[in-house]
Amino acid sequence: RRAALLATLGLVPTTGSGGAGRPAEGGDHPAGVVLLLTGLSGSGKSTIARTVATRLVEGGTPVTLLDGDVVRRHLTAGLGFSPEDRRTNVRRIGWVAAEVAHHGGIAVCSPIAPEDAVRRDVAAMAADRGARFVLVHVATPLEECERRDRKGLYARARRGEIPDFTGISAPYDVPDEPDLRIDTTGRDVGACADEVLALLDPEVGRA
Ligand code: PPS
Repeated sequence: RRAALLATLGLVPTTGSGGAGRPAEGGDHPAGVVLLLTGLSGSGKSTIARTVATRLVEGGTPVTLLDGDVVRRHLTAGLGFSPEDRRTNVRRIGWVAAEVAHHGGIAVCSPIAPEDAVRRDVAAMAADRGARFVLVHVATPLEECERRDRKGLYARARRGEIPDFTGISAPYDVPDEPDLRIDTTGRDVGACADEVLALLDPEVGRA
């Protein structure tokens, strides 16, 4: 059944420690968690988000993954990267995530979410729905994100081909007090995911 759930989310089973996660909740549906991983493009948000989601599903916890590219293909299709479109994008993600968490699920969200004020809006939406809000800053430095440049976007942004590129020609507000700050430089994604899982519930974080 878990393999089927992972497949539904487009995830594959993890190797190694795996299996970490809370047992599925009973019928009383206590409020869940909105987990927001924020950081620059290429910082490792999506990779950590997918590993966290996979481990939770393997542990029997219901997860909704609201990952950048997929969200922009469906929920926020048609939006661009102007400040206003980004606000709409992140607020829509926050609304869906709060709804999921209200019904006891864990919503794992990994947009850049560059504006502090909008991240606060997401936190407020979660609180309104009685859910816990957890903010993780994936704080991989710009130089490392640019060195990775997996999608070739930084090079294009430097050439001036992409306007309003976060970190180059558009701002990113560094969160003041995230629940966790992770620099993924030279680190294993599994270890980063374990840190996040430990934050969600001390019982689920396993090295
Ligand atoms: S935001 O700011 O939260 O609305 O951005 P998000 O929805 O997470 O989308 C970020 C991904 O879109 C690609 N992309 C850009 N990023 C930043 N600035 C500009 N102008 C831009 N244009 C396209 C980029 O690949 C981001 O992917 P990730 O997964 O973050 O690397």
